[in-house]
Amino acid sequence: MSLDAAVLARTAPLYERVRRVIPAMEWPVFADDVDAILSLKRERNAVILAHNYQTPEIFHCVADVVGDSLALARKAVDTNADVIVLAGVHFMAETAKLLNPDKTVLIPDLGAGCSLADSITPEDVRLMRATYPGVPIVTYVNTSAAVKAESDVCCTSGNAKRIVEKLGVPKVIMLPDEYLARNIAAETDVEIIAWKGHCEVHERFSPTEVRQLREDHPGVIVLAHPECPPEVVAEADFSGSTALMSDYVAEHKPARVVLLTECSMSDNVAVQHPSVDFIRPCNLCPHMKRITLANIREALETGQHEVTIDPAVAVAARRAVERMLAL
Ligand code: 13P
Ligand code: SF4
Repeated sequence: MSLDAAVLARTAPLYERVRRVIPAMEWPVFADDVDAILSLKRERNAVILAHNYQTPEIFHCVADVVGDSLALARKAVDTNADVIVLAGVHFMAETAKLLNPDKTVLIPDLGAGCSLADSITPEDVRLMRATYPGVPIVTYVNTSAAVKAESDVCCTSGNAKRIVEKLGVPKVIMLPDEYLARNIAAETDVEIIAWKGHCEVHERFSPTEVRQLREDHPGVIVLAHPECPPEVVAEADFSGSTALMSDYVAEHKPARVVLLTECSMSDNVAVQHPSVDFIRPCNLCPHMKRITLANIREALETGQHEVTIDPAVAVAARRAVERMLAL
């Protein structure tokens, strides 16, 4: 048996998981990297944490833990591995490092950033604190460790309302996503002061687009990520984090659904629900798409790029993340 045939035979059961979203003729392009990554993980005692926006060959074939930002942060604490490869964006890798200071955390491409994380600096947070003395600062995990270090507590899209309400105060500052802040404000009595950051992927959805979708696909159920503008969320049937959207599909099994979020999300959920018809207007996140099987393999082979955090920053940032997990 030639090497390629052996690789194809070993990876055949993995291809079965993704055959609904990856054409058979494309699989040989992925098979060699998948096979190599599986043995490198064993050699290095490594785990791969993959966000819901990773492509199906990463999400379904090489990842050990998949989920939204909250799940990845939680599961990062549980691992016994020596090496964590974060298939996602840089703030997620920093969060994994904050919670695992003694482990090696790798991000396959250092350019995998986030428009929300780029929208605010530690100086901006200090300015907000000085402007609103005594008002607690809740920071979305989509931020740098240095910004988290200036905050009182972190939140994700999956727990933002709960965190805001658990603080037991009438007013909070919520940074940096303006739309997430306004969407949470619509669901709670707590007054929320927002920043002006936006997700470059979710801000592109519009209410007109949602109305057109409903016209073109009668009966479609519309699920929107809370990073979408409030006018879009108002037109949706449900809004929640990527994990909550996935749970919604699993629980309700709608005949037709559209997920107003990043494109790979529909592919990954569709694999698990063959009976559901996914309508796919979606927007690509260029940062998430920097992660590929090839650079995951390279990360495991070479140990790059290791995520490090200034110890002084790490202590304060870890406190904000751990407070979130405790709440
Ligand atoms: P989730 O926490 O809902 O997975 O969102 C992360 C993210 O980056 C969404 O754009
Ligand atoms: Fe950041 Fe938006 Fe990409 Fe999520 S989808 S990583 S919020 S730019």
